[in-house]
Amino acid sequence: MSSFEEKVKEIERLAAEEIGNADAVERLNEIKVAFLGKKGSLTQVLKAMKDVPPEERPMVGKWVNDARKKIEDRLTESVKKLEAELQAKRLEAETIDVTLPSRKQEIGHRHPNAVALDEVERIFIGMGYEVVEGPEIEYDEYNFTKLNIPDNHPARDEQDTFYINDRILLRTQTSSVQAHVMEKGELPIRMISPGRVFRSDEVDATHSPSFHQIEGMVIDKDITFSDLKGTLDVFAKELFGPETKTKFRPHHFPFTEPSAEMDVSCFKCGGKGCRFCKGSGWIEILGCGMVHPHVLEMCGLDPEEYGGFAFGVGLERIALLKYEIDDMRLLYENDVRFLKQFS
Ligand code: DAH
Repeated sequence: MSSFEEKVKEIERLAAEEIGNADAVERLNEIKVAFLGKKGSLTQVLKAMKDVPPEERPMVGKWVNDARKKIEDRLTESVKKLEAELQAKRLEAETIDVTLPSRKQEIGHRHPNAVALDEVERIFIGMGYEVVEGPEIEYDEYNFTKLNIPDNHPARDEQDTFYINDRILLRTQTSSVQAHVMEKGELPIRMISPGRVFRSDEVDATHSPSFHQIEGMVIDKDITFSDLKGTLDVFAKELFGPETKTKFRPHHFPFTEPSAEMDVSCFKCGGKGCRFCKGSGWIEILGCGMVHPHVLEMCGLDPEEYGGFAFGVGLERIALLKYEIDDMRLLYENDVRFLKQFS
């Protein structure tokens, strides 16, 4: 065997060994350069051709070309193998176990106030009422004067009011919407108006400086106290169940005459008396009455022709009762662990 042939074979063997040991594609590239590159060992053999007698040159050329082909094939094969191994590793690392339990998606929950308001609106819309909105920042004229609560009337002090200036305040009651609706003069009126009210009260289990009321008002010809009783009785039965009884106690509100407070039979004990109703069998729910003739007049209606009834109910009170929540503060803290119970 000529020394050239031996040399080429040796290069081929060395290349095969190094390719066999290579554990990364980068390493194979280095090997390619080392053997087949411009300064590579196989290329060096070709460079030494000038020392070979011309008749032998084709032979040497063939050895070198064969060796180059073999090394190239080995390299290609190894690159393929390493890439396949790499891919297999990647796939294994990215494997998803579809049998694992999924991560829980937290979804939002409705606030008990919102759930209770929906319920109240559903009941009154079903009886043909319209839902009306009124301003939270109000003239004292609408919050008090037009509701038959003149300057210096003690009721102005009873509801500790947040004043913005002499004439403008944060409304203390949704009754303020009554005057707005009557002044529009679109009769008859059958409306409820839910919304936020403000009183400078300290926060405790049953008080907050800001809470919600739902006002209701019906104005038409020939409206009687029986209409008021019938309507609110239906409301109570729809809200607390068909067995619910109602009772009207005489009361006083400046803007209604006569006025009453409505109690419902305790939906916990059915009226026998329990801890929930403090033993009385009854739970106070709302204030109501026949719209005072002065109020009608001040709002541009003729009390000889038109009359009606009105009522006001605390939304939080309904939510607390209906969902048996014993502290109003829970409604404002928005602790998701609490809100989760409602849907
Ligand atoms: N505005 C009263 C309050 O805040 C509730 C009320 C009582 C509203 C009687 C009325 C009503 O419309 O007729 O305590």
